[in-house]
Amino acid sequence: MAASTEMLSEKLKSLSVTAPLTKFPNCHPEVNTVDIYRSHLTTILADVTGVESSVIYPALQWTQTLEKGDMVLPVPALRVKGKKPNELAEEWLSKFPESPLVHKPTINGTFLQFFFKVDKLAQLLIPSILTRGKEFGNNPYNGLKDPEDPSKGKKRIIVEFSSPNIAKPFHAGHLRSTIIGGFLSNLYAGAGWDVVRVNYLGDWGKQYGLLALGFEKYGSEEALAQDPINHLYEIYVAINKDMSAEKDQIKALEEAGQDASELKNEGLDEQARRYFKAMVDKDEKALAQWARFREMSIKRYKETYARLNIHFDDYSGESQVKEEKMEFMAKKMEETGISEISEGAVIVDFSKHVPGKAGKSLERPIIKKKDGTALYLTRDISEIMQREEKYHFDHMIYVVASQQDLHLKQLFKIVELIGYKELAAKVQHINFGMVLGMSTRKGTVKFLDDILRDVADKMHEVMQKNQSKYEQVENPLAVADVLGISSVMVQDMSGKRINNYPFDMDAMTSFEGDTGPYLQYAHARLCSIARKAAVPAEDLLNANLSLLSEPHAENLIRVISQYPDVVQNTLKTLEPTTILTYLFKMSHILSSSYDHLRIMGSEKELMTARMALYEAARIVLSNGMRLLGLSPVERM
Ligand code: ARG
Repeated sequence: MAASTEMLSEKLKSLSVTAPLTKFPNCHPEVNTVDIYRSHLTTILADVTGVESSVIYPALQWTQTLEKGDMVLPVPALRVKGKKPNELAEEWLSKFPESPLVHKPTINGTFLQFFFKVDKLAQLLIPSILTRGKEFGNNPYNGLKDPEDPSKGKKRIIVEFSSPNIAKPFHAGHLRSTIIGGFLSNLYAGAGWDVVRVNYLGDWGKQYGLLALGFEKYGSEEALAQDPINHLYEIYVAINKDMSAEKDQIKALEEAGQDASELKNEGLDEQARRYFKAMVDKDEKALAQWARFREMSIKRYKETYARLNIHFDDYSGESQVKEEKMEFMAKKMEETGISEISEGAVIVDFSKHVPGKAGKSLERPIIKKKDGTALYLTRDISEIMQREEKYHFDHMIYVVASQQDLHLKQLFKIVELIGYKELAAKVQHINFGMVLGMSTRKGTVKFLDDILRDVADKMHEVMQKNQSKYEQVENPLAVADVLGISSVMVQDMSGKRINNYPFDMDAMTSFEGDTGPYLQYAHARLCSIARKAAVPAEDLLNANLSLLSEPHAENLIRVISQYPDVVQNTLKTLEPTTILTYLFKMSHILSSSYDHLRIMGSEKELMTARMALYEAARIVLSNGMRLLGLSPVERM
């Protein structure tokens, strides 16, 4: 960092910015060019207004639309008493000095609008993008324990996401959790956090006793080895069918006044209970069989996650919660008077511990059933402590569908009520709405792989419509796969997380509108321009950027300068759509520029300058796409 700071001050001197930049918290000019302007403007405005710079700096805002300027100051935010905001604005404007970096401000209502001098912006920004490359947009300070002293290390965040259930369908809820969780992991990693990605599998409970019985009856080693996920699911469906048939039988016998005790005592339900009891009691054979199912499923999941550029650091799961921990937590809840016995079961009646409506709305979850078995919530309570002990995290995010809002509220509240207040304060539920009507073309079960295959097939058909282009793509099936995945992901990330949306294969695979293929096309087009122009990287770095004076070039420079701020803003919203909306806005400006900023036919110096701009735009687009979890393609 030290070297880049020095380079930057040299550069600023050459642009006649002689006063050193004032330091502010969260101001990092070497990774965010716009921070140079923030610091510079603050220094000027402190002079002009007489207000403390510590008040001015955070009041400066970036803008969503370029027409409003590159930065604005809401005059009332400086809290100067005695004069009306518009009078103050006039007064400050008249005192505003010449600056090498910004034009004189304009007044818009109670706002001062600042427009950057774009020739200077280009010289500060473009070389920084070209040299930082894949790192551009990252800002490692956010994750530092002490932003002033990197040697104190990074803060650690656990992102728990995906978390499917073994032998059950990987449904839309898991897909969304995977996409959003992967994105959040990338976001925090880029912000300098130490990210631990945890997959909390549904892999424990009586149903896994039943699954083992099902395997004895219907299982095939061959089928298991070939496709564990589907095979285990088939078995699970078959054995569940048997079990519900048995239940019907019991009911019929009882209604007819006959003895059903044999079926009850020896039937599948009871066998499954016993089998699971053996697992809990660490019966070797039972555990070995279960571990095999688990490992084979994880192996297959890993392959699918790899297609989505996702990996996990820890495959945890409900099975990994220790009995001793559950006993310990049960005791804690008893001692603190949070839990109570009700009809033989242990429950938490929140209305007794949390006053008013809030307490009622948390309901009365069961912690331990009459027969002593633990539940989903019980395991989560213990798992949270295990994670605290294992990872000593600073923050933890659970990426789970909004259907489980209540569950997570109960979990967090219990942790707080039993006295772990600090722990409760550092956990966060990131929720999301549903995908409506997600099914495969064949209509049947919805495993992630089937969905991805369907969308890839569809993209392959779309690609083949343009034969001449299609023939140039080296590995069309692989590209179709990536484009299919992009289609699904972009559709998923288009709206706010909490919104439901319909799964619409035609819309998501279209090149029209703000879709995955559109974004990929924008990237591939930039790659193709670069291939044809073939300007050496060194020349790009030495390009004469003052030639980029057309309005289209200026707008493109200004919009790409915003990327680091957009990423910072995303750390607040935690919404993928914040990035996506920006990438589409930028791509639209880009696509309207091509006719005005031609490469072919331009004279060499101009061509080099334009190529430097296009390459900077490509880096921003590519970095944004990769942050979202997409793999930018070079040809399609
Ligand atoms: N396996 C659960 C499901 O499919 C999701 C797990 C969410 N995470 C948690 N810590 N409860 O519904």
